[in-house]
Amino acid sequence: MIDLFTQQRHTDLCLEIKRHNQLYYNQDQPEISDAEYDALFRELQELESQFPDLITSDSPSQKVGAPLTAKFAPSPHIVPMLSLKNAKNAEEFLDFDTSLRKTFLARSEELEYACEMKLDGVAIELTYEKGQLIKASTRGDGFVGEDITENARTIVDIPHNLKAPYPDILDVRGEIYIDLADFQALNRAQEEAGDKTFANPRNAAAGSLRQLDARVTAQRPLRIFCYGVGRMQGIVTATQIETLQLLEKLGLRVNLEHTTPALGAEVVVETFRKLQEQRDSLPFEIDGVVVKVNDTALQEELGMVSRSPRWAIALKFPPRQEQTTVEDISLQVGRTGAITPVAHLKPVIVSGVTVSRASLHNWDEIERLDIRVGDHVIVERAGDVIPDVVKVLAEKRTGKEHQIPLPSECPECKAPVQKNPEEVVPRCTNPRCPAQVIESFKHFVSRDAMDIESLGEKQLSQLLTAGKIKDFADLYLIDKEAMFAMERMGDTLAEKLLRSIEASKTRPFSRLLFGLGIRHVGRNTAKVLAKRFAALDELAKCSAEQLTAIHEIGAKVAESIVDYFNKPEKMLLLEKLQHAGVKPQAEVVIQPDGPLTGKTFVITGTLSKWSRKEAEELVEKAGGRAAGSVSKKTDYVLAGENAGSKLAKAEKLGIEILDETTFAQLVGVVL
Ligand code: IVH
Repeated sequence: MIDLFTQQRHTDLCLEIKRHNQLYYNQDQPEISDAEYDALFRELQELESQFPDLITSDSPSQKVGAPLTAKFAPSPHIVPMLSLKNAKNAEEFLDFDTSLRKTFLARSEELEYACEMKLDGVAIELTYEKGQLIKASTRGDGFVGEDITENARTIVDIPHNLKAPYPDILDVRGEIYIDLADFQALNRAQEEAGDKTFANPRNAAAGSLRQLDARVTAQRPLRIFCYGVGRMQGIVTATQIETLQLLEKLGLRVNLEHTTPALGAEVVVETFRKLQEQRDSLPFEIDGVVVKVNDTALQEELGMVSRSPRWAIALKFPPRQEQTTVEDISLQVGRTGAITPVAHLKPVIVSGVTVSRASLHNWDEIERLDIRVGDHVIVERAGDVIPDVVKVLAEKRTGKEHQIPLPSECPECKAPVQKNPEEVVPRCTNPRCPAQVIESFKHFVSRDAMDIESLGEKQLSQLLTAGKIKDFADLYLIDKEAMFAMERMGDTLAEKLLRSIEASKTRPFSRLLFGLGIRHVGRNTAKVLAKRFAALDELAKCSAEQLTAIHEIGAKVAESIVDYFNKPEKMLLLEKLQHAGVKPQAEVVIQPDGPLTGKTFVITGTLSKWSRKEAEELVEKAGGRAAGSVSKKTDYVLAGENAGSKLAKAEKLGIEILDETTFAQLVGVVL
């Protein structure tokens, strides 16, 4: 008999876990940490192993992920996408190894494992038929995922065609993630644009992958590491490591560099410790090590249990979380006037790194956490830095804590503050606000913009205070005298600075465009624009309609560009830059009025005369656009050898199909 109390606890746990699944998988807004989630899940599993009658097919212990949303079309997985069991520590892993050998395989000799990094991102399945990418889906509930093919096609790491020889059918699984540095840049850009920032790289990756507009996904720095297969027709690999090597040969990105074979459980534990030491120096976030039985025949023999394979386990790192208190919440003003709240924390060491500040992102986040000065909080850090407040311990309040209201004036210049109802941040309304000015200069000289080395915040602030620079063009008029007026400026440094200022005059056009800080013109948009316009004055003449005619440019971006060039002081700045000798390198590829302007091409199959990239460039040079997938909007399909489903679709839609000779004529190339 199961007592009522146990039954009730089981129901509560199921409901609670389902709610967190929904928050994590569908809303990218988890309320609890992974460690807290794992603890709930374990409690459920332990309860069910004690009272197996409690298990229903509806229990989260029997399922993967969360129910599908209606956002995307359903996409069934032919081989289910399972989840992994977790081991909390080395002991639990040793138990796993013993049970595999003794109970399931009845052998005493050591097993060989493949130890892989456990990337903290979102799972994806890519389906290739005859070497061509035909489908991409999320994991969903493990049996049916969401069709995100259009979005996946915009991810540079994901090849549209595999390198031959390839299996006839291949389902490859991997993790979509965002590098830590890109995550920080993305959050900065979101902040400046008044859009929501992401609490961590995983949420950013998940949110970016499940966008309804593939153009948004295209702007996000998503990456992939492939780690396994579903169906793989015609090829058999003997080990997991061989599978990864095969995927690499097919042109897929795998993390072989950090994958280690380990003979026996002790070696696995050693490898786990080594990888844990490397954790902070990696460019991406990992939350553990996935340990897989290396031999694929043994994998087969071991099979699966309910929601996970018996032959693999995730050995999780301890969470990098600590408790501390909020000493203050200050307000930071960015280059577009966006005001961001920052929590100043009582310094606390979170697994080796002192954390004393954490961005609170915006007032939605302040409200969501209900964070107050004086609060006890849990902080977590990803990678080497990027701390985040994950939770407020409201039960520890004494009544002395106080809230931070939305500011009515700029903390730096006292100008009035405005909050646009569609944005999550308030903004300072004074374009001359000293905080905005210095942030704009920092952006202009930054590595991704004009890349003026050694001109840091200190120097900029001195030059600004001395009245030597008022706009970006003034940087190019600085003389040695002005340099020497700066603190700690010797001959060598001054020379170096002048040289790097000089060198920045001929940076690629897209970098200058990005550096100007036009609202909504991030690195990618700047690159798109630089492909269409040779110089700033050409772009300045463009109307919003002309701009939105460019596929990647939406109305919001177009409006912001037109606004920028409508301001007389900006036109003056452009003139001054030109006079000062700033002459960026043109990057024009696409002709604005070429023979193929307005035409969309899809290139498929293997070409004999060009690589796919070369053919795409030819299209762009003639003014056309190269797209990844065939739709009603496609004008031409260039089909090479072994063209598969895209060709079939084009035929079905009655789209004109070109061979290489006709294509050459169209783009004006003599063969
Ligand atoms: S193998 C059947 N390998 O961790 C085994 N998973 O629940 C399937 N993950 O959803 C997973 N890195 O998204 C595997 N090297 C790796 C991984 C990995 C990250 C994710 C994956 C999966 C989750 C485990």
